[in-house]
Amino acid sequence: MEIRPLKIRDIEKVRELELSCIREYFSETLENRWEDLPQEWKDGLGASSRRHFSTYLESGLSFVAEEDGEILGFIFAQMLHHICDSDDLLWIENMGVHPYFRRNAIGYKLLRECVRAGREQGAQVAHSMIQPDNAPSILLHKKIGFFMDRRDVALLDLKDPKLKLRGAPPLSPLRACVRARLIYRTCKIGFHRVPFDGQ
Ligand SMILES: CC(C)(COP(=O)(O)OP(=O)(O)OC[C@H]1O[C@@H](n2cnc3c(N)ncnc32)[C@H](O)[C@@H]1OP(=O)(O)O)[C@@H](O)C(=O)NCCC(=O)NCCS
Repeated sequence: MEIRPLKIRDIEKVRELELSCIREYFSETLENRWEDLPQEWKDGLGASSRRHFSTYLESGLSFVAEEDGEILGFIFAQMLHHICDSDDLLWIENMGVHPYFRRNAIGYKLLRECVRAGREQGAQVAHSMIQPDNAPSILLHKKIGFFMDRRDVALLDLKDPKLKLRGAPPLSPLRACVRARLIYRTCKIGFHRVPFDGQ
């Protein structure tokens, strides 16, 4: 699995994955069925939407996790050079990992790479919006070193000399085995037909 910068050729696959993650979130909060929501509204959602993709592509701060030509995860970020009296803020707009590949340190590696790249570009602080009920995302950000100053904002001081963006811990043998089985199963039945509810 490779973490690499987002490319223009990723647009279809990354769009599909981001929309799936958004849909997963909305299915828990919205009363309407996803199918009943207006297409125009759905088309405008996310950083991979037609209007916003190029911003995140050109930022040099967006990355994907790729294996065997499939996109397993993404992170979309950009630099905001001046906002609320802060200069050079790394703005993390969205990230997600395909449900079948979660808890394999992919999110960790994506976030770490994004933060590293942001620091290289001169960002002084990283800022990520997280829904207060999104425990996996909150715990992931905390693992990197972010702190939550309000219930929905995670911040990381990139000027902190103690900040170490170390490698992710290796997978335990059990987790590596589960992951290998999932990849095998996914390859057999076709990546895009893997249902997101894990059935
Ligand atoms: C949040 C998300 C990106 C995490 O991706 P991931 O690849 O599964 O995360 P990782 O395997 O790198 O996890 C790193 C750490 O985060 C924490 N974490 C991640 N998922 C967790 C979960 N479901 N429960 C508890 N802790 C979790 C753990 O501390 C984990 O370390 P560990 O596995 O050594 O315990 C993923 O769950 C996802 O795509 N969710 C849906 C979309 C979303 O919510 N995006 C975030 C928007 S702000």
